[in-house]
Parts: sequence; structure tokens; C-alpha cells
Amino acid sequence: MSLPRILNEVNMKSQIETLSAKIETFEIKNNQDLESFRIEFLGTKGHVKELYAALKDIPNQDKKEIGQLINSFRNLAEEKFNKFKENLESVSISNDNFDCSRPGEINEVGSHHPISLVRKEIVDIFSRIGFSVSDGPEIEDDWHNFTALNFPPEHPARDMQDTFFVRKGENEMALRTHTSSVQVRVMESSEPPIRTISPGRVYRNEAISARAHCFFHQIEGLYIDKGVTFGDLKQTLLYFAKEMFGEQTQIRLRPSYFPFTEPSAEVDVSCSICSAKGCNVCKHSGWLEILGCGMVDPNVLEAAGIDSSEFTGFAFGMGVERITQLKYKVNDLRLYSENDIRFLRQFRASW
Ligand code: PHE
Repeated sequence: MSLPRILNEVNMKSQIETLSAKIETFEIKNNQDLESFRIEFLGTKGHVKELYAALKDIPNQDKKEIGQLINSFRNLAEEKFNKFKENLESVSISNDNFDCSRPGEINEVGSHHPISLVRKEIVDIFSRIGFSVSDGPEIEDDWHNFTALNFPPEHPARDMQDTFFVRKGENEMALRTHTSSVQVRVMESSEPPIRTISPGRVYRNEAISARAHCFFHQIEGLYIDKGVTFGDLKQTLLYFAKEMFGEQTQIRLRPSYFPFTEPSAEVDVSCSICSAKGCNVCKHSGWLEILGCGMVDPNVLEAAGIDSSEFTGFAFGMGVERITQLKYKVNDLRLYSENDIRFLRQFRASW
């Protein structure tokens, strides 16, 4: 590899020409070739170093010209080296060490919880018709969870929702039993028109089983404006049912009772599992109950400072677990909070 001693600038010029031609023709097919190239041209005993060392013997008047030739020679060598290095790195197949029998690396993809998936879907559906999303505390005072919603103290309707009470200093507070409490807060702090939904976790003192749990998730909706009617409520819920369960879905309303709405109704959707023909899930009725609703009771509007002679409104509330159960055919409520990875993995990439 070492050069014959370079005695003058003519020798030196032809030497650089020969070596440059060698760079052009040097074949680099793999990492080993690349390393040989580096050692021969750019290494500590390579041609570039040797040429710079020989420069000191060149007469002064030629040093500048020869120096520039060596610089270009070095650039040529470096450019070729870098270009092939990049190519070999990006096409690892041309690497001699490539082992095509080695198993690929698995990229574990996480999954969203089914409750999150369905909550997002419900929020999206109502956002499209102008509902905003509102949030509130999970530990509530009696006013927001009960009294402002037309549950007078000692009223038996309070027993409809078995409540967890907690003491906070002097005050007895409750883990909210529904997100209607958030709607009271929205009514108190803003002026109609109000069009909002409140998703969130709620708590009830119930024994845990496949069909009941001590906590679950709700999305409640509220619409208050001048001239809002029961027809608007029906139309909104029909729109929701079709978006959620498919265009062919139908709804039916059955009279019911809630302290905060009058009149009140429970809403069923036609069973999407058997196309309303009758199956185990709909208990052969063709209908599935999904939510409660009604026209906001004037007492509730007044308690929140809204003039009930000017404004009317509707409200509805649904359990996210219930909708998820129907959408994904989950038959045991406990699955949602046990974090069994076999259950959760089934929802991978569904978003
Ligand atoms: N808050 C009720 C519940 O949790 C649901 C509901 C909301 C009913 C709004 C009617 C109107 O059971």
C-alpha cells in the first residue's frame, strides 16, 4: 500500500491521478469492502495521510497547488465512503450478516379500553349536532347531586340510587350517583341556550355482579332553549340510536319516573343483535333498554336560576357500559374493571 517516495510535484500529480482513478473503480459491495476502502484511503496509514506527509518535501512555490489537489482527493475518498456507508445501512439486505431466518421483532400495539372507545364514539355523535362536553367533580355535595334536581330531603326518590356518603370536614358529601350533577353546575354558571353532554364515572352502593357494579360510566345530555319540545328530544335520540347502532335502528319510549324530568321516559332500541327478531340478549322482545330521559322539570330550571316561563329543555342519561355491552356483546360488567389482558387485547386497533 505504501507509495514510492514522492520526490517532486510531477510525480505527486500523477500519483494523485492514479489514486483518484482507483477510488472511482474501487468496488464496494458490502461492509467488508467498505472497511478495506476506508483503511486504504482514509485510515491512519492510508493514501490521504501519506500524501499530506509528502507535501512537506514539495518545493514551496508548488505547495499551494499540490495541497489543493490533495484536498480534492480527500473529498473524493470521503464522499465515496459516506455514500456507500449510507447505502449499506439503509439496505441491510446487502449486509453479509443479514439472517433471513431470524424471526421479526414484534411491535406490541396497545389498545384503548372499550369504555373509552364507546365514550369517544358517543361524544363524537353528539358533537356533530352541536353538543359541548362538560365536566364536574366526582365527590359532590347534596345540592348538586340531589336537592337542585328536585329530590327534596327525605324524599323516597333518593333511594332510587343507593349512595356512598363520605365526610369532608363538617360536610357530608356523596360520590355522585349520576352526572346530572354536572348539568346543574352548567345551568348555574351559564345562560341558555345550553346544549351539553357530561361524560363521567358515577358510583352506586350495589353488590358487584355480572349485571351491577359499584361504579360505572354515564353520559348525560341537556338541551335548554326557548321552545324545546318532547319532539326535539325524540328526534335527537333517534339520530343517536341510528348513528350508534345502524340506520335500520328504531326507538320506542315508555313512560317512566325521574324526579328531575316531567314527563319522563325510558328508551329502548330495536335489538341490533337479532335485528329485532328475538334473541337471548333482548329476551325475545326485540327491544333493548338503553337510557332514561324527559323534559327538564320546571323546579330544576328554577333551582338553577333559569326562568321556566321562558325556557324549556330536555335531558337524557345513559350508561356507557350498557351501550358497550350491546355494541361489543360483553355479557359481564366485571370484565370492564378487572384489567384482564385477554379481554383488553380484543379491542386492539379498534380506534
Ligand atoms: N340521571 C338519571 C340516572 O342516572 C338518568 C337520566 C338523566 C334520566 C336525565 C332522565 C334524564 O338514572
